[in-house]
Amino acid sequence: MTTRTRRLRGSEILRHMVRETRLSADSLVYPLFVREGKNIEEALPTLPGQTRYSPDTLAKGVEGALQAGVRSFLLFGIPETKDDKGFEAYNETGVVQQALRNVKKSFGKDAFLITDVCLCEYTSHGHCGLIDSCGDGGRGGHREGYGVDNDSTLPLLAKTALSHARAGADMVAPSGMMDGAVAAMRAAMDENGFAETPIMSYAAKYASAFYGPFREAAGSAPQFGDRKTYQMDYHNGREALKRIDIDIGEGADIIIVKPALPCLDIVSKTAAHISLPVAAYSVSGEYAMIKAAAASGFVDEYGTMCESSVAVFRAGADILITYFAKELAGAIRKGDIG
Ligand code: PBG
Repeated sequence: MTTRTRRLRGSEILRHMVRETRLSADSLVYPLFVREGKNIEEALPTLPGQTRYSPDTLAKGVEGALQAGVRSFLLFGIPETKDDKGFEAYNETGVVQQALRNVKKSFGKDAFLITDVCLCEYTSHGHCGLIDSCGDGGRGGHREGYGVDNDSTLPLLAKTALSHARAGADMVAPSGMMDGAVAAMRAAMDENGFAETPIMSYAAKYASAFYGPFREAAGSAPQFGDRKTYQMDYHNGREALKRIDIDIGEGADIIIVKPALPCLDIVSKTAAHISLPVAAYSVSGEYAMIKAAAASGFVDEYGTMCESSVAVFRAGADILITYFAKELAGAIRKGDIG
């Protein structure tokens, strides 16, 4: 006697009929890098296949993805000048703000623009918050004579979010793991006419070695120390749920778990724990790992991309942020996945 599951695998049509996990290109978000300057379209060596644009060329990157069927974007900015307070992050004419205005002029509501709100790309020290050089910075972590000053960072994150909303951002995404960032951004946007702009919070973000290629691409590696005083320790799972509850209490609309593959258990627990949408961020190192292994002939790129991306949805994610967004949209269209 054959088993029920074996009988359901006999026909391709039936296999597709009984698939538990369904994918749509509308669930994909494509990260894009924009740096200050003009007429820039440069390949990113640590993220093969990805391009860094300037505000005047970014629309090309958006257009290419729209043609592939991807309609949502996550923007990261790289300023020309950095300082210890990250001024360019909240400069009304900063690189992301310029890019938002340009892309909105070209595509209006056809492209959904999400912005990463963090100081690390804009500070000379590369940390996600201001540095309190003499002490624990309200963080309790007295490490090597410096601390990230959580509370003095919050007004700057609020200003950054507001400047993005004013420039046309459809949603803002705080990624710096500062306590109270969601509340500060929500209040600033509510008071200034952007009560309807949602916040997608990187609530469960681990201190991960998988962010390496991104830090090269965004020029945001910390100049000293690490991010372990504000990002989460990967030994901890329940702590993620606690941080998620706090962010939801502060007004988050969507929750991000990051990275994705090393955190499928967290994605799954989060999906069971909350009623808000869950996004998983398949980060730069996950992408680069597949690219590098495939380039060496060790694995098949298309197959590993499809399998690892479907696994994120199977774990319970509603949204996948991925550098493979365009290729995945193609795989969905062809019926290979979804
Ligand atoms: C900014 C930020 C980082 C990533 C997204 N937002 C870098 C970091 O936390 O060091 C990583 C994304 C990726 O690796 O693809 N804080």
